Amino acid sequence: MSEHAVIDRVWPNPASDLSDADLLENVRFPADGTWLRANFIVSIDGAATRDGLSGGLGDTADRRMFDLLRYEADVVLVGAGTLRDEAYGGLRVSSEAADWRVARGEPAQPALALVSRSLDLDPASPLFADAPVRPIVYTVASAPADRRAALEPVADVVTMGESDADLRRVREDLAGRGMRRIHSEGGPHLFGALLAAGVVDALHLTLAPSLESGAAGRIVRGAEAVPMGASLASVLRSGDELVLQYRVLGS
Ligand SMILES: NC(=O)c1ccc[n+]([C@@H]2O[C@H](COP(=O)([O-])OP(=O)(O)OC[C@H]3O[C@@H](n4cnc5c(N)ncnc54)[C@H](OP(=O)(O)O)[C@@H]3O)[C@@H](O)[C@H]2O)c1
Repeated sequence: MSEHAVIDRVWPNPASDLSDADLLENVRFPADGTWLRANFIVSIDGAATRDGLSGGLGDTADRRMFDLLRYEADVVLVGAGTLRDEAYGGLRVSSEAADWRVARGEPAQPALALVSRSLDLDPASPLFADAPVRPIVYTVASAPADRRAALEPVADVVTMGESDADLRRVREDLAGRGMRRIHSEGGPHLFGALLAAGVVDALHLTLAPSLESGAAGRIVRGAEAVPMGASLASVLRSGDELVLQYRVLGS
């Protein structure tokens, strides 16, 4: 677990210095049904990255929430761009999180599911070699056959479309594997595609207290404009930073 950062709840039910148990209660998945939520950090002028990475925007409070949001997830869903840029290793929650999961009858570790057209992924990388659960790779029929063959020994490689992975089918496939609590860690192209497919139920958004200027992109890239409403579910605060939880209402 990250260094302790004081996080208060502003709304609803204001409370100070929430414990991990309080925060986990605040970000519970619904008891039933498939639910897909996304987690992002953004600066107050809308930048999703600093120096090309999201980590530069975050502090200990964001890191604490990032870790806690993985606790209840059956699967962490990530685009291949984020995996490459952020150099993901094998996805592994902390021993505290693993104990918390096991005490609730869940597997100690969530699975990792990733989405890629190019399959430009190293099968020998820690992402696969150190994975405690066999990752799932959702790809397309046009992906290079040699890369697909190289990944098949280390992951479940599933074709979900011709040139774009059909993210409705991805969500259904995960639910069919018993993974109905789907936690997406981005990035912007995948999030845009998920929104366009109408499969996002909630957004957890950390608002970092900085103005980045420059040309950094938003948390959505490359998708057609599909305005959707959202309703505010909770507001947390750590110093100058806000952590907002929204339900996505659809277009
Ligand atoms: N602010 C934040 O909270 C946050 C969160 C996450 C990431 N980021 C930042 O975002 C940047 C990465 O951006 P990104 O947009 O490239 O990340 P991304 O959305 O994670 O990855 C994009 C890639 O995912 C695959 N993909 C996405 N949609 C697909 C679909 N429908 N079908 C098949 N494949 C699909 C493709 O992989 P292939 O290229 O392999 O074909 C695509 O190039 C990094 O700088 C990272 O730091 C920021």
